[in-house]
Amino acid sequence: MASRTPIIAGNWKMNNTIKETKELLTALIPLVKDAKCEVAVCAPYTSIAAAAGLIAGTKIKLGAENVHWADKGAFTGEISADMLKELGVEYVIVGHSERRQYFGETDATVNKRAKAALSRGLKPIICVGELLGERESGATDDVVIRQTKGAFDGIAADELKNIVIAYEPVWAIGTGKTATADDADATIAVIRGVVGELYGKDAADAMRIQYGGSMNAKNVAELMAKPNIDGGLIGGASLKAEDFAKLIAGVN
Ligand code: 13P
Repeated sequence: MASRTPIIAGNWKMNNTIKETKELLTALIPLVKDAKCEVAVCAPYTSIAAAAGLIAGTKIKLGAENVHWADKGAFTGEISADMLKELGVEYVIVGHSERRQYFGETDATVNKRAKAALSRGLKPIICVGELLGERESGATDDVVIRQTKGAFDGIAADELKNIVIAYEPVWAIGTGKTATADDADATIAVIRGVVGELYGKDAADAMRIQYGGSMNAKNVAELMAKPNIDGGLIGGASLKAEDFAKLIAGVN
């Protein structure tokens, strides 16, 4: 089994003005300076430049929350990979369930965004996960298999080292309901199996796959103890420095 460095990434969603970004990061930086895992914050576009300045030279890496697939052009309201790269962005969330639910994101557009990110040297965090109804009808595995295959369509094996997958059961996001550690681990094993089917066992063993959905300082240890879980994509608990730092301290 390949050893995988866990990655905890905050997804701020539509939170944190520049002023709030400064306050949060100024408090967070000293609290996570000895983190044993990789740490990233995915900020809204308007806060990225401020975040970049504050975290330069620290443990914290910079992420964005979406990227368009075109290089440039008539796509009002969209942001290109080059624009993010210029700001020092390293990671970019692609295919978050909120994008899929509210903004018409499909497996095909997730794939296009992931490829655009990779082509410009950004590292996509590709999100997959089932809705509550899909879980209740026993379709969880089918959904994550379809989403994973769709997201990786046409992606070359040598790009895999730059990709992180986040398994986020939609019913667990922002609800306080966490998937049990066993359920999360089992579904992540299914996702890892898809990577293995597409690229071989070594690639599957090396792929970092996060859990996301009401992850916090209390449940992080139990989730991280599972063999397939390589970190977390954190919403609510990444918005307060102390909460996020406690969660990060709970890794290992
Ligand atoms: P919460 O941690 O608020 O449940 O959000 C999870 C999430 O959607 C991260 O991308």
